[in-house]
Amino acid sequence: MIDPAASPQSARQRRLLLLATGTMSGVGLVGTLLPFIASMAPSDAARSRGAPVEVDLDSVEPGSLVTVAWRGKPVWILHRTGDMLERLGRHDSLLGDPLSKKDQQPANARNATRSLRPDIFVAIGICTHLGCVPTYRPEAGAADLGDDWPGGFFCPCHGSKFDLAGRVFRNVPAPLNLEIPPHAYQGETHLVIGQDRNGNQ
Ligand code: FES
Repeated sequence: MIDPAASPQSARQRRLLLLATGTMSGVGLVGTLLPFIASMAPSDAARSRGAPVEVDLDSVEPGSLVTVAWRGKPVWILHRTGDMLERLGRHDSLLGDPLSKKDQQPANARNATRSLRPDIFVAIGICTHLGCVPTYRPEAGAADLGDDWPGGFFCPCHGSKFDLAGRVFRNVPAPLNLEIPPHAYQGETHLVIGQDRNGNQ
């Protein structure tokens, strides 16, 4: 059910607040109430020009989602648990594009987990319908989303749904899976958003 309080206008305001918070976060704000983490980032000016953003994955607890700002967009980093990964394999019939064949971005988005590493999911947190920011709803069978809800992301603007790999459900307004930004790992706990393993941005 769509929350009537979550109008497109309020969603836009939330998005602006989210992006503004990301811009203001700077360095050293790990652990704020909002699920943003400060990245080991270049200056705000460099970041606004599109410089890669670095994230210490030790900041991302299993099951939790954090958001960083990259090129003015919210980028999600979700640390998926074993249970979350197991759930991903059970609902392909509900999805619009389970194998990411439509207009999908990097090669690492074309697999069941849509990720370089199964446990870490990185995606741009913008709905592929009209650009609202979906909410993180990891709880399977949530009362307002139905018994068959496997956990994922719900867009409050017009009701689009995405699973925990950012794959869009059938019969919702959003036409595509969530976008995966270029990213790469440097060691076990160091994530770079904004360039791939070959340095391409
Ligand atoms: S913007 Fe997300 S469903 Fe319309």
